[in-house]
Amino acid sequence: MKATSFVVFITSVFISFCSFSCKNTNVDAPDSLTVSEGFKNPIGFYDSLPSFSWKLPVTESVKSQSAYQIICASSKGFLPNNPDLWDSKKQESPQSTFVKYQGENLKSRQKVYWQIRFWNQDENASDWSEINSFELGLLNNTDWQAKWVGLNTAKNNIRGVRKFLMHRPQYLRKGFELSSDVVSARLYITAKGVFDVHLNGNDVSDDVMSPGWTPYNHRIETLTYDATEFVQMGKNSIAVELASGWHSGRVSRRTALYDNFSSPKILCQLEVVLKDGSKQTIISDESWKGTTNGPIRLASVYDGEVYDANLEIPNWTKNDFDDTSWVPVETEDITNSVTLEPKRHNTVKPKMMLEDAEIVSVNNNIAIFNLKQNMVGVPKLNVPMKKGDTLKIRFSEMLLSDGTFYTTNYRSAKSTDYYIAAKDGLIEYTPKFTFHGFQFVELSGYDKDAQTKSTWVKGIVQHSDFEKNGTFTSSHHKLNQLQSNITWGLRGNFFDIPTDCPQRDERLGWTGDAQVIVPTSLFNYETHAFWTAWLQSLRENQSEHENGLVPWIVPDVLQINRASPGWGDAVVLIPWNIYNITGDKRVLEENFEAAKKWIGFYKSKIEDKEFIPKMRSFGDWLQPYPTKTGKGGNSGDTSKELITTAYFAHSSLLVSKMAGILGHSKDEKEYYDLHKNISGVFRNTFFDKNGKVKNGKETQTSYLLAIYFDLLKPETKIKAQKHLLKEIEKANNHLGTGFLGTPILPKVLDEMGEIDLMYKILFKETYPSWFYSINQGATTMWERWNSYSKAEGYNAESMNSLNHYAYGAIGQWMYERIAGIAPLTPGYKKIRIAPVPNDILSSASASVNTPYGEASSSWKMDNETFTLDVVIPPNTTAEITVPYATPKNTLINGSTINKYSNIKSLSADKESIKIVAEPGTYKIQTKL
Ligand code: BGC
Repeated sequence: MKATSFVVFITSVFISFCSFSCKNTNVDAPDSLTVSEGFKNPIGFYDSLPSFSWKLPVTESVKSQSAYQIICASSKGFLPNNPDLWDSKKQESPQSTFVKYQGENLKSRQKVYWQIRFWNQDENASDWSEINSFELGLLNNTDWQAKWVGLNTAKNNIRGVRKFLMHRPQYLRKGFELSSDVVSARLYITAKGVFDVHLNGNDVSDDVMSPGWTPYNHRIETLTYDATEFVQMGKNSIAVELASGWHSGRVSRRTALYDNFSSPKILCQLEVVLKDGSKQTIISDESWKGTTNGPIRLASVYDGEVYDANLEIPNWTKNDFDDTSWVPVETEDITNSVTLEPKRHNTVKPKMMLEDAEIVSVNNNIAIFNLKQNMVGVPKLNVPMKKGDTLKIRFSEMLLSDGTFYTTNYRSAKSTDYYIAAKDGLIEYTPKFTFHGFQFVELSGYDKDAQTKSTWVKGIVQHSDFEKNGTFTSSHHKLNQLQSNITWGLRGNFFDIPTDCPQRDERLGWTGDAQVIVPTSLFNYETHAFWTAWLQSLRENQSEHENGLVPWIVPDVLQINRASPGWGDAVVLIPWNIYNITGDKRVLEENFEAAKKWIGFYKSKIEDKEFIPKMRSFGDWLQPYPTKTGKGGNSGDTSKELITTAYFAHSSLLVSKMAGILGHSKDEKEYYDLHKNISGVFRNTFFDKNGKVKNGKETQTSYLLAIYFDLLKPETKIKAQKHLLKEIEKANNHLGTGFLGTPILPKVLDEMGEIDLMYKILFKETYPSWFYSINQGATTMWERWNSYSKAEGYNAESMNSLNHYAYGAIGQWMYERIAGIAPLTPGYKKIRIAPVPNDILSSASASVNTPYGEASSSWKMDNETFTLDVVIPPNTTAEITVPYATPKNTLINGSTINKYSNIKSLSADKESIKIVAEPGTYKIQTKL
């Protein structure tokens, strides 16, 4: 080699070495890796076509992502150099959320290890992230060798409330031997009913009421547990407690649906990999034995549990237990008509403990305890008893004026637990196969010589296992109480499915309630997977109807073939909102056909009037001051035809938009044209030229729907807005809206620039308003604006839940506008920071864990200064509107605006400035 070429060679080696290693050195690895709808290292995962998401590190050197690389391998050791399952290669793309896996087909049980790196805005590569993994569950019915097993409990013919068949809870077990040391073990398990499983005397998990509630005639979800640490060489035993739950128990008013009168059963398959390389599988089959002579005598979702400690069976979950007196189980083969699929969202778990009970009263050996918060779950009791006595445990959400229990609103739900003591002394009891909605607990039957102690009762709060996703707080204690009531309303009603209420003889997946609360729930909790899982159930129930009907409730245990506008539209509105808040397109893909079918349902209901479907409707449910009294007034005064046509038009438009996003241009046009046609008929039928409601009563909601859904001509819309303001004025700035109008009200007034009016309505103290219930002592959202008042007591209707999330839908506006943080484009790729301060408040702030990381907006007013603190996560941009600001009177991080380099652009009008900002932390100060 000549000297010159040697120099060139060395230089190029040096340059390429430097460009590789220098680029690698200063960019931190991405973190918070998740698969599909936010799962972190799941096992028993449901999704064989997963997507990947990650967050860029928050550091000076990272503003955005210019490219990424994802690698997947079948073994940890193969990463990063030998990704045998998939290598995305370097992709020039800013996408860091929901990137679809495109490797080899994934199979049941398969474990995938994955890693990601990204290139920042300067093309510098980051370090590789930590290795994450996901492991698939049993994806197909054919993966199961096990059989359904259980005892025939139907034959006992025990009848409960309304003569419903009740099943004695079962205790099922099997002993088995493993021939070698254990390398790994997976327990795949589910039930027709609800179960709790033990291995060698250990509780395998703290899951509650598994496997949860799906339309069991279509699909039963299965769970996977890592059982490695629970099993061993030699003798082992598996033991399962089994009760009716939703499958075989009393739910709603249903009669014989599915095989709900059949006895509960379990299905379980323990797959063990042994040190000698062999695999041993233990399945539920005819070798199992069972008894119903255990301590849980009865258990019902609505009615409570009966526990007799005299019937406890010591050591039944352990080896060496003699089960010769137990009876062999009956078996049933799995069928193909019901699919067994890994659970696609988290189970219910104990999430919190309320420990600060207060004794309200003790009279005639009846003690009442107050947990100071309306909650959902079970009590944890430590109570002194005498052998043979029965402790009766009652619940209520609030008290009557004489200090006794208000339980009329439980309707037929007995919601009472019993514990029969087997010894003198302190007993410990937590019911297992029921749950209650309550704040007060009443005990009777305890040791009457004992001094009542507040420590006897604690409250275990249970809900689907997700974490907080956002916070909201302000300078106003009632607004903060409202936020607290909203979040308690959410916790209380996310019990595997979104329920309307958690306490009475309903607890059902009402579609209308669900659709109004989705945005607020996604701000407050990580509920992405929770909703997409329930949407699968919704589609399954919809598939039972040729005409596209979406039932009132999902799972549809009512089976009465009825749908309502604003309820069935859940199939359109929920995916649409989830997409906008998370940016996950798959929710649109999954639900697009179902959404189209729902529009088809509207079409099928058109009779004599063009584009005006004729169908049942709940109206603007529970509007205050309805013309009719009693039950008849529940659906409010807004014309039902108007509501139906408005939702028909709106959902058609959203379906058109979905089609546009998914690239279905023919549908996009077809549904847009349909929307236009319906809108035309809507405005001619229900509004006159002056924008006033015709052919129906003028109500806040009729105007709100027409304006928010944009169904009027622009000039009529302006007139309709005036009529709306008149309606609000007539109500002296009170709400006149029910379930459908309420979530829309703030959006419409906001769009109209009527922020002050919206604040007046929100801060109203008298009925009907949000603060009214707070003034009456509410710690959760109530079903009615007037569920209770100190002056008049409880609403006379028994349909009067004190834990109903629908009116909590105002939470979205609190985040988006009071604190000022919202997605401007789907999934927060662009963030809008635009608080609307008001004199009533001196500060408000919210933070949200966006798909790109934490974003926050926090403002305060003091000393003639308005300060806005903003955090914008990497790989996003923000449009920040600063009220009161002019380019001259404003400082950003201490500098005048034009000197501040992170600002991409600036515009101003009379009342505010608008800044387009890069990721970072900003303190924006404006002299008032
Ligand atoms: C439920 C609701 C539901 C309504 C529909 C009630 O019984 O609790 O919240 O949306 O029925 O009419």
